[in-house]
Amino acid sequence: MADAETQDQGLESLSAEERRFPPPPDLAAHANVTEATFAEAAADDVAFWAEQARRLSWATEPTETLDWSGAPFATWFADGTLNAAYNCLDRHVEAGNGDRVAFHFEGEPGDTRTITYAELTAEVCQAANALVELGVKSGDRVAIYMPMIPEAAVAMLACARIGAPHTVVFGGFSSDALATRILDCGVEVVITADGGFRKGKASALKPAVDEALERCPDVRSVLVVRRTEQETAMVEGRDVWWHDLVASQPTEHAYEAFEAEHPLYIMYTSGSTGKPKGIFHTTGGYLTGVAYTHWATFDLKPETDVFWTAADIGWVTGHSYLVYGPLANGTTSVMYEGTPDTPHQGRWWDIVDSYGVTILYCAPTAIRTFMKWGADIPAKADLSSLRLLGSVGEPINPEAYVWYREHIGHDRTPVVDTWWQTETGMHMISPMPGVADGKPGAAMRAVPGVSVKVVNDEGQPVSDDAAGYLVIDRPWPAMLRGIWGDQERYVDTYWSRFPGVYFAGDGAKLDADGDIWLLGRVDDVMNVSGHRMSTAEIESALVSHPKVAEAAVVGATDDTTGQAIVAFVILRSEAGDGGPDVVDELRKHVAREIGAIARPRQIMVVEELPKTRSGKIMRRLLRDVAENRELGDVTTLTDSTVMDLIKGNLAGSS
Ligand code: WTA
Repeated sequence: MADAETQDQGLESLSAEERRFPPPPDLAAHANVTEATFAEAAADDVAFWAEQARRLSWATEPTETLDWSGAPFATWFADGTLNAAYNCLDRHVEAGNGDRVAFHFEGEPGDTRTITYAELTAEVCQAANALVELGVKSGDRVAIYMPMIPEAAVAMLACARIGAPHTVVFGGFSSDALATRILDCGVEVVITADGGFRKGKASALKPAVDEALERCPDVRSVLVVRRTEQETAMVEGRDVWWHDLVASQPTEHAYEAFEAEHPLYIMYTSGSTGKPKGIFHTTGGYLTGVAYTHWATFDLKPETDVFWTAADIGWVTGHSYLVYGPLANGTTSVMYEGTPDTPHQGRWWDIVDSYGVTILYCAPTAIRTFMKWGADIPAKADLSSLRLLGSVGEPINPEAYVWYREHIGHDRTPVVDTWWQTETGMHMISPMPGVADGKPGAAMRAVPGVSVKVVNDEGQPVSDDAAGYLVIDRPWPAMLRGIWGDQERYVDTYWSRFPGVYFAGDGAKLDADGDIWLLGRVDDVMNVSGHRMSTAEIESALVSHPKVAEAAVVGATDDTTGQAIVAFVILRSEAGDGGPDVVDELRKHVAREIGAIARPRQIMVVEELPKTRSGKIMRRLLRDVAENRELGDVTTLTDSTVMDLIKGNLAGSS
């Protein structure tokens, strides 16, 4: 295992963790999921998922459940037809819940909007009609590049309603990243906004779209929401304002039912090569998976809960647990546009307080930031409405888990640490809050209907209390259906390391009770603040700079962000020493190429990089340097003096 050393260190501190938090008796007494659910699902997982599909309203009820005969390509509910937007909207209105709030939206400057299911349905119908007017048809791909405003969800649902798969590109990504994604999946229509509010300022988005589209001649229309009201250039014949086109449309739209396997969306994510992968999800299985897990993991009571996923719509968490899962379940959600410290560090807790949030779902990196800011800040707000807390995106360290439970949950609320991926679409491992005795730092066991194993190098299950690789050994309804335009890469990436099972790319440990502890990635993928970044992607951004000859990037442990990006670069000889500002220049260059989240924390200019005899960069050694550890084994290096060179160089430069 590439990361054996780091993992050993992690294992020791995890095995020492003995705190246990049983479910609150009240929650357990009325829990959606009980021990019996696990037994039922294990007895026949296919029948279990067929049963869960009944949570949805189908235009044609499926008679088939799983077809795995073409493994690793699955179909679920293939002869059923449905409309995802109808399931998230109209049916709740038809059931008499039109007045229920779908979103409490809070903008960063403090503006608010309360949107009921009836209102959201009407607005999505208008947007669907507008897309039809722009010539968008079922199967066409639409890119969405927006801030966290209700129109982002409206845009997604409008696409779903007319069967046009959307690809949401995180608003923090650069124009270049946007262009790459648009080109990869052949987008012809883009939905965006003039900008959004972040850190107390209006930050523009539209100029990045204009820049991206210089490389994307096939994009014929851009629909622009007015959010910040900043000066915005509009291209005649291509760009149209949302309030001009959408607001004038009829508030009704007769939806069409699509086959369950109709593509719903494509979400790009980093892999271990430089090129992001377009993970695609289809309709019936995905919606079944997210509706079920949203209900099960969060013990959701849709009539009374106020649910808040504090994640951006540009990530899978925003797709599955801000839009599709909660809306399919008729949930009232909070959507917040901005940053947690604007205008002050207690913003989140004011939001929990004012909307009476009962379930909060966020990333450990946010929790660690709040820890740093101090417990006195949440202590000022009334957080008594909270009854359950969730964590997602990266391993949660026991201290952060306990702090979260104590200072946010006032020692009453279970914490559910949910492990899953863009590819899995839905939660795969998580404590069920009415059943599990929570262990700080453990994701516990597979959710009902899901089967995972921890295996050794040969693919054999490890015994209890041992570490290995996490694999998924049964298909699940929300599983990715492939990589857009590259099914060979799908098979190679996920199904080849261990034949017949899905390899997630994560290391995991089974404890003596058979519970699972996630140990982080075992490949060249970093996890920075819960965001997946590939080392190769950042390396290729660095070498695209004229002064850089070679670059190696590693994820170094960071107290707040989990991992931080540290880059080692060799400059081209004609660049000399690069000048005093070279590091700053390179950091900015990466931010421009990929987005601010990819900006390295540290860049070290070196003369050599450590390589194995086969020419592979030894990232493990660079990580040791980045984390100031004693160097590990250097015997496989071509030239072991390289490390002395690097270390000497750094001593000189720092
Ligand atoms: C990591 C985010 C430990 C993991 C939903 C996975 C986690 C990658 C957890 C997927 C968790 C996610 N504990 N690690 N609870 N949740 N991860 O696609 O390495 O952005 O492979 O999906 O995040 O990241 P992605």
